[in-house]
Amino acid sequence: MKTIKIRYSSGRVKVHVGPGLFKRLASFAPEGKILVITDANVARAYGGEMKKILHRATTHVLPAGERHKTLAAAEAIINRLLELGFSKTDSVLGFGGGTITDLSAFVSSLYKRGCNYVAVPTTLLSQADSALGGKCAVNSGPYKNQIGTYYHPDLVIVDPDLLSTLPRSEMSAGMAEIIKYGLVFDRKLFRALFSAFSLPDVIYRSLKIKAAITAADEFDKNKRLLLNYGHTVGHAVESISGFKVGHGRAVAFGMYRETKDPGTRSALAELYRRFGIDINLPYSMEKIKEYILHDKKIAGGVIRVPVLRSIGKAKIVSLDVGEYIGGLL
Ligand SMILES: NC(=O)c1ccc[n+]([C@@H]2O[C@H](COP(=O)([O-])OP(=O)(O)OC[C@H]3O[C@@H](n4cnc5c(N)ncnc54)[C@H](O)[C@@H]3O)[C@@H](O)[C@H]2O)c1
Repeated sequence: MKTIKIRYSSGRVKVHVGPGLFKRLASFAPEGKILVITDANVARAYGGEMKKILHRATTHVLPAGERHKTLAAAEAIINRLLELGFSKTDSVLGFGGGTITDLSAFVSSLYKRGCNYVAVPTTLLSQADSALGGKCAVNSGPYKNQIGTYYHPDLVIVDPDLLSTLPRSEMSAGMAEIIKYGLVFDRKLFRALFSAFSLPDVIYRSLKIKAAITAADEFDKNKRLLLNYGHTVGHAVESISGFKVGHGRAVAFGMYRETKDPGTRSALAELYRRFGIDINLPYSMEKIKEYILHDKKIAGGVIRVPVLRSIGKAKIVSLDVGEYIGGLL
């Protein structure tokens, strides 16, 4: 097991990474009451085991999918916590992919102005990226992450064994975020993805990068914006598709569109082929550009976005929205 410890201004986070950790969850779980938030697919695959491992926990199961990351779902969970008499020192445990961990963190940030929160991510995307960093939000209508807060888990348990049941398309989606870490921050990681690599190792390397970036810029003022590479276009694609196109695939599409250098574009295309990431999507750039106008990063007609300088290096630039949109390939 490897551990990453992060000190944020608003709290400390411990991340344990390693196979077999789910089976040992009881030894890491906080004292007090626990409400496990999960979705129907994860409950089907691991609900029985979770009951055996954490028999004192209660479980709240949501339908699977991004469409359920809503204020209404958050309110239903809050009502459940109230019914169960949870106090601030009791814990919400997000057990699922990014949809579930975003929603669980969001609820934890609101309940009694903040209760304990533990994340046990179950998709590659959430293990390598989204369960860490404290950003949590729900969607509003077709628009992504419009209502949100920053709230860190006290503990994140990353067990790659949980990925054995993940559909191939979701593995591909997770690889897209890992590619992003290599492309934007770490040339060696990017290169490593072209040959044989260990999945727990690239998950750990991605998390180390995210930990360093988010600790240096917890509230998205500067450096952290680099994590948004591919996300401006990606979020627009997710919205247009009515959330039928998942986050990872949409970000892969966005990274390709935001990358200008032809050599880097063909390296990306090669990795996409390697990991079965399909970026053939039927949405016109005109439509995508229309949705980008709703992006949270726009203020006063200006958008701050990451621009790639070379593989492993990027910078933040402020662009007039029209200029940014006009430059998309
Ligand atoms: N907070 C952040 O920093 C951050 C960063 C990136 C993405 N996100 C958010 O993450 C979400 C996407 O997360 P995701 O890609 O994990 O999607 P997801 O949570 O919707 O999961 C994808 C699918 O995999 C299923 N699943 C999950 N774990 C499984 C398992 N072990 N076995 C079988 N099936 C399993 C789910 O039921 C679902 O059908 C989006 O809402 C996105 O906005 C947040």
